[in-house]
Amino acid sequence: MNIKQLYTPCLSEATYYISSNGEAAIIDPLRETKPYINLLQSDNTNLKYIFLTHFHADFVSGHVDLAKETGAKIIYGPTAMANFDFQQGVDGEVFKLGKLEIKLIHTPGHTLESICLLLFDESMKEHCLFSGDTVFIGDVGRPDLAATDELTKEDLAKLLYRSIHTKILPLPDNIIVYPNHGKGSVCGKHMSEKTFDTLLGQKQTNYALNPKLTEEDFVERVLEGLLAPPQYFPKNVQMNKQINKNINEIISKGLTPLTITQFLRFSSCENILLLDVRSAKEFADGHIPGSIFIGLEGPFAPLVGALIPDLNQKIVLVSPKARELEAITRLSRVGYDNVIGYIEDASKYWENKGWKLEKLNTIKATSKILLQNPYFIDVREKTKYEVSHAKHSENIPIKFIRNNNLNPNIRYYVYCNKGYLSTIAISIFKKLGINNLVNVTGGFEEIKKSFVPVYKKDCSCTQCNCKKLAELN
Ligand SMILES: [Fe+2]
Repeated sequence: MNIKQLYTPCLSEATYYISSNGEAAIIDPLRETKPYINLLQSDNTNLKYIFLTHFHADFVSGHVDLAKETGAKIIYGPTAMANFDFQQGVDGEVFKLGKLEIKLIHTPGHTLESICLLLFDESMKEHCLFSGDTVFIGDVGRPDLAATDELTKEDLAKLLYRSIHTKILPLPDNIIVYPNHGKGSVCGKHMSEKTFDTLLGQKQTNYALNPKLTEEDFVERVLEGLLAPPQYFPKNVQMNKQINKNINEIISKGLTPLTITQFLRFSSCENILLLDVRSAKEFADGHIPGSIFIGLEGPFAPLVGALIPDLNQKIVLVSPKARELEAITRLSRVGYDNVIGYIEDASKYWENKGWKLEKLNTIKATSKILLQNPYFIDVREKTKYEVSHAKHSENIPIKFIRNNNLNPNIRYYVYCNKGYLSTIAISIFKKLGINNLVNVTGGFEEIKKSFVPVYKKDCSCTQCNCKKLAELN
């Protein structure tokens, strides 16, 4: 028996590969197929099943392409409907895989068609549970995403409670729980750093799996504090129900090298987004005017999904050398399938034309200018902002920066934790016509060490570095 957890930090997503005696199953694959094909070849194994624990909202799966390339069968849970060939599994159905068995358990709640998959080892003992978005380590899947007028989030939360109490909690305590998502995913609220645990461990530490929790309390706690999902979530659900562009075609189109002249010619006729995916520092030091920055160094795909409203947007990349394929692949994982090429050595060729690159206005956190009560914009998450932030700051979390009331006539000093998100924010604010912006280099990490007054939630003195201020004066 061979079980692999293939974890992708950008999406906080876990795909699973299981093989036994020449047969394999993949659970919740990402969009690209090549890594799975390579794995099957190196394992000398045939793919028999592609299981989808539900219609994902936060990524587009490549199950249709993978099934075409391998001949494997796609399996969804009861009630699932889609525009491609698949088998609708039945609650309790058993799938044989080499010397193993996989039992489908219908667990409606996160979505109606959600399933968990219970793996029996060679001796037919329960070994582990692939829990999809039904159970996470530290939480359960949010029940609001699939809500409708007829089936409210409260209804779905009640279904989730019953699924957990009738189908998950009675399973043996020693089985391992392998979830589809980990910390950083917005599919849950209290995700742990751990990417798996025993069921007993979860009964003891996961509030939602506490056997004593009443249905009423469960519904209240699961629904409290849920933020609106990013705009690409319902679009990704829709894509997962249909046949999409083939991944190999997306990649070969995206890997077209373009010159600056070609890019300018194309973009004079149609709306093309120049997306700079290099490092925040490289973008700050010089970028092509009009480009936006979302660097590969961070949670690239979810940020693209939150910040680029049109999934069909034509995109040209400015990428670090030899990372174009990575950028195209990561974009396609959230349904941005329209990269039409990339510009090689873009900055160099821009300057060779005699044109000036644009630089970001930056300031060090230690600059005395920041003591003159400037307006700060903090683009970190609300939870981080509430714990501690610069005084005289406004919180506009990065995912909501398109909805802002900023005054184009005021100079704003933008910061995040270390400078990645603030660089993204400034590039997008500029696209929205707000230009009087300064990036605080080093972000809040540096602000905390500087003389800038900082508010801390757990401090009785609301001006924590007043001592330092006194020293300065
Ligand atoms: Fe989900």
